[in-house]
Amino acid sequence: MLCIFLVAIVTGGNTGIGFVTARELARNNAHVFIASRSKDRAEPAVELIKKETKKDAVEFLQLDLKSLNSVKRAAETFLARNLPLHILVNNAGIAATPFEKTSDGIQDQFGVNHIGHFLFTLLLLPTIKASAPSRIVNVSSMAYTGAPPAGIEFEKLNDPNAYTSFQRYSQSKLANILFTIELNKRLSGTNVYCNSLHPGVIKTEITRGVVANWGTWLNPIISIMSLFFLSPDDGALTQLYCATSPEIEEKNLRGKYFVPFGEVIEPIAQGKDEELAKKLWDFSENLIKEKLGDDIFSKSYA
Ligand SMILES: NC(=O)c1ccc[n+]([C@@H]2O[C@H](COP(=O)([O-])OP(=O)(O)OC[C@H]3O[C@@H](n4cnc5c(N)ncnc54)[C@H](OP(=O)(O)O)[C@@H]3O)[C@@H](O)[C@H]2O)c1
Repeated sequence: MLCIFLVAIVTGGNTGIGFVTARELARNNAHVFIASRSKDRAEPAVELIKKETKKDAVEFLQLDLKSLNSVKRAAETFLARNLPLHILVNNAGIAATPFEKTSDGIQDQFGVNHIGHFLFTLLLLPTIKASAPSRIVNVSSMAYTGAPPAGIEFEKLNDPNAYTSFQRYSQSKLANILFTIELNKRLSGTNVYCNSLHPGVIKTEITRGVVANWGTWLNPIISIMSLFFLSPDDGALTQLYCATSPEIEEKNLRGKYFVPFGEVIEPIAQGKDEELAKKLWDFSENLIKEKLGDDIFSKSYA
C-alpha cells in the first residue's frame, strides 16, 4: 500500500477501526484528516498517530454527524483548504443505541450512520471527482441482514415504537450499502471507486450503544465474547483494502460489497435492490433540503 501525496478523510478516525485506518493511511504517507465529533477524543488520537508513524500530516476535522449544520461546516472547512481528496472513508457509526433524535429531528442511528455521511459525501463530491482516481468507502455491517422485509421503512424511521434498536441499526447499515449502489451509478464514467463493506466482528467501543440501552451488567459478557472478536488492526483491513489496494482499479471493483478480508460477495436481495436505493437517495436528499434549504446540493453534481 502506497499513498504518496494522497489526501484522506476518515470519519470516526479517533478510535476503533477508524483509528487504525487513519494510522495506516498516515504511515503510508497520506495526509489524513480525522473527522470526529470530539476534540478531546480526537486530538490524543492525532498525537498518537504522529508519534507511532513519525508522520506529521495528520489533522483533526470537527464533524458531528448528529448535526447537519456541523456536517456542512466540516465539509466547508475542508474545502476551504483547497486540497484534493483521494480517499473518503465513511467509517463513523453508532450501534443499537437507545432511541434518540439528532439535532435535526432524525432518528439518530439513521441520522448518524446514513444521513450525515450522505450529506458529507455529496458536499465533498466535486473535489473527490476532481481528484480522481479516488475512492469512497462506506463502512456497513453484516447486521444489514436484520432489516425488516421492506428494507427501510421510511415512514416509521422516527417512530420510537416501530423497531428494536438492533433493527434500527440494521436499517442504517442497509442504507450504507444502498447509498453505495446509487452513488456508484451516478459516478459512472468517472474514476471514483465507491464500495461498501462489512469489516468483521471486532473488539472496539461499538458496544457502547448496547450497554447504554441494557445496562453495564452486560460488560463482563461482552468482555468474554470479545475474546473471539477480531482485533481493530485486523478489523480495519477490509476498509484499508477498499481505500488503497491497486486491485480496486485493476479489477474495476465499483459498487461492490466486501467482507473480511477484502473479498467481494453478493449482498442479500435487499442489499442489491436498485429501486430501494433510488428511493433512499430521493428520501435523503429531500430530507436534507427540508432541513438546510433547497440549494444545499447545488454544487454536488458539478
Ligand atoms: N466493531 C464491529 O464489530 C463492527 C461490525 C460491523 C460494522 N462495524 C462498523 O464499523 C464502523 C466503526 O465502528 P467501530 O467498531 O470502530 O466503533 P467505535 O470504536 O465505537 O468507533 C466509532 C467511531 O464513530 C464515531 N462517531 C459516533 N458518533 C459520531 C458522530 N455523531 N459524529 C462523528 N463521529 C461519530 C465515534 O466517535 P467518539 O469516539 O467521539 O464516540 C468513533 O470515532 C461503524 O460504522 C460500525 O457500524 C463495526
